[in-house]
Amino acid sequence: MKLIVLGATGGTGLEIVRQATERGHSVTALVRSPERLKQFWDRITVKQGNLLNSRDLQQVIQGHDAVVSAFGPRVPVSKADTTLLQRFAVALTSAMPHTDVRRVVVESVAFLFKDSLLPPAYLLGRLLFPRTVADASAMEQVFAESELDWTMVRPPELTDKPYTGKYRVREGHLPLFGFKISRADVADFMIKAVENHVSIRKVVGVCN
Ligand SMILES: NC(=O)c1ccc[n+]([C@@H]2O[C@H](COP(=O)([O-])OP(=O)(O)OC[C@H]3O[C@@H](n4cnc5c(N)ncnc54)[C@H](OP(=O)(O)O)[C@@H]3O)[C@@H](O)[C@H]2O)c1
Repeated sequence: MKLIVLGATGGTGLEIVRQATERGHSVTALVRSPERLKQFWDRITVKQGNLLNSRDLQQVIQGHDAVVSAFGPRVPVSKADTTLLQRFAVALTSAMPHTDVRRVVVESVAFLFKDSLLPPAYLLGRLLFPRTVADASAMEQVFAESELDWTMVRPPELTDKPYTGKYRVREGHLPLFGFKISRADVADFMIKAVENHVSIRKVVGVCN
């Protein structure tokens, strides 16, 4: 498939790029800092642009099969990035209807699972990262109101542990005792969600 990867220079994004190329997909990354993808220059197309600008997004996305996004604010989140996810969602959902691409898989946060008791994801999020919860929630709302074939992937704490392929998935809920997941496993799920055309217009909890 011809995939657009957004947030390609981040922890999850690099894994998406690596695994997608290994699985034979053609990858285009739209990034603000192309040099961060130097290791992939011989295997993927790297475009420089503004991910908050719908025109930049539209030009790059046209002609692909799907968008896979691991875009998100760098931690610690600066004041300027308080509404970054929402602004990104507005730009992307404005851009995609002007292209022939409807499919988009987006990495969000497990803090949005209000019914999760073990861990108490929503409570923890509201207590420890209230601005992240508000921004991710606003982002998801923007996609929900769009006509796109979106999937929201909500992981709990991300780790840099290796790929296992042994992770749990639940539509609409965070699996019980879902405390952590490796970025490599999240990337695996996101690529397979695109390949298999599953969980369309669904929120999905993933964890190891
Ligand atoms: N950390 C956790 O435990 C955790 C848990 C659950 C969910 N999440 C969410 O999962 C997603 C991925 O997390 P991660 O830790 O793998 O990502 P990350 O390493 O923080 O990478 C973030 C990516 O977004 C890009 N980005 C940020 N601001 C940008 C901007 N203004 N313009 C262009 N690109 C920008 C970064 O590009 P640059 O390389 O140019 O900075 C990078 O590619 C995030 O949305 C995060 O909120 C995180």
